[in-house]
Amino acid sequence: MLKDGRKISAEVQSGVSLMEAALENNVHGIVGECGGSMSCATCHVVVDEAWMLATGSAGDLELSMLEATAVAPSPQSRLSCQIIAADSLDGLVLNVP
Ligand code: FES
Repeated sequence: MLKDGRKISAEVQSGVSLMEAALENNVHGIVGECGGSMSCATCHVVVDEAWMLATGSAGDLELSMLEATAVAPSPQSRLSCQIIAADSLDGLVLNVP
């Protein structure tokens, strides 16, 4: 869900990062400036609480990058370049802060 309340649904091929999927689907608020090398934090998303276990948690480097996001991170924050689409994430809900 976008900040303005709009929802975007997309089919994402397994193995594709959700940052890449967001760019392909023109998700406003996801920039992916570093191309997924975890050095820009412009791909910040907030994982729906029901999906926290399935997406896993951020590693130490990801957590430190989340501190540099434009919007203060929450415990559910992730860098979307670090979440890779998989069958187990079918139906995943992400929010763009
Ligand atoms: Fe740069 Fe995710 S795209 S940190």
